[in-house]
Amino acid sequence: MSVRHTIAVLGGGRSSEHEISLASARSVAGGLREAGHRVLDVEIGRDGVWRESGLELSLAPGRGWPGVDVVFPALHGPFGEDGTVQGLLELLDVAYVGAGVLASAVCMDKVVFKELMSSAGIPQVEYRALTAREWELDRTRVTGTIAELGLPVFVKPARLGSSVGIARVAEMSELAVALGQAFTHDPLVIVEAAAPGIEVECSVLGNDDPIVSEPGEILLAAGEAAWYDYEAKYTPGAMQLVVPARISGLARERVQTLAVEAFTRAGCAGLARADFFVDGDTVLVNELNTMPGFTQTSVYGKLFDASGISYVELLERLVGLARDRHIRERGYRY
Ligand SMILES: Nc1ncnc2c1ncn2[C@@H]1O[C@H](COP(=O)(O)OP(=O)(O)O)[C@@H](O)[C@H]1O
Ligand SMILES: [Mg+2]
Repeated sequence: MSVRHTIAVLGGGRSSEHEISLASARSVAGGLREAGHRVLDVEIGRDGVWRESGLELSLAPGRGWPGVDVVFPALHGPFGEDGTVQGLLELLDVAYVGAGVLASAVCMDKVVFKELMSSAGIPQVEYRALTAREWELDRTRVTGTIAELGLPVFVKPARLGSSVGIARVAEMSELAVALGQAFTHDPLVIVEAAAPGIEVECSVLGNDDPIVSEPGEILLAAGEAAWYDYEAKYTPGAMQLVVPARISGLARERVQTLAVEAFTRAGCAGLARADFFVDGDTVLVNELNTMPGFTQTSVYGKLFDASGISYVELLERLVGLARDRHIRERGYRY
């Protein structure tokens, strides 16, 4: 039996992924208890208030988190997966699972992430970044640059998740509405050329020398022109995960290599799920999720389960990785 720790599991949060996060947190807490740890269930309300057993928490920078060895922020989206909560945990000087401040923020911002990946020569779709101000100032010019991408395009708020606010635009006449919708979520929007092929996901685990899972394929019940929208993500039966993904040996190798490369370039730690578009042997990176859905039936765990690492074992390793990183970072001089 490994060491017994006290672990605070954070769930909920201010983003539209509040409920999804609560489901992740429940599963994580269950798995950690199964592994023999003591768990504090911390629920972050939609108002941002942190509570444990109904009592408001009070934490002070520099004072650690009394009684807690490791924090597991099972939070998705803005104010959870974007570096903000990670910043608070850094100020508390407590070990926590997953990416740090910068990597969390970089992976949350689809524009910054793409710019970073392209500087590393990592293959991705063509895209245009666009601010609400640019759109208001010169719609004709903006429409022209977007038209260069061809159709369809995907219009997305730069810093959101779970497909919220994303539109697939098949006709230029639909562009203004899609942009207007995206700008209600974020003043920064990314417009992407549509990638051909299928969607493949690969789980990554580790700090400096991460391991990868067998890649899995996202199969949508809705078929061809469908994309992985909010409904497909959260309606039972709308998506089937096929493991291993039905792709060529070369594509499989590229997915796994690019998953580690993207993880390392973004400066991730602990875990991430790397998402791809695969068409024949062509592999394009779509995004990294630094805190992917984490229930027993979420893709992240299922891919490792298919690769011989159980859900509980995954949690154990993540706790160990969090502690290792915290100890190492404490050793640096500032
Ligand atoms: N460039 C693209 N080409 C084809 N499909 C896309 C593209 N961008 C997004 N999609 C579809 O939209 C889904 C959500 O987009 P994604 O960028 O992963 O946002 P989120 O962070 O909300 O998951 C993808 O899983 C895919 O089905
Ligand atoms: Mg995605």
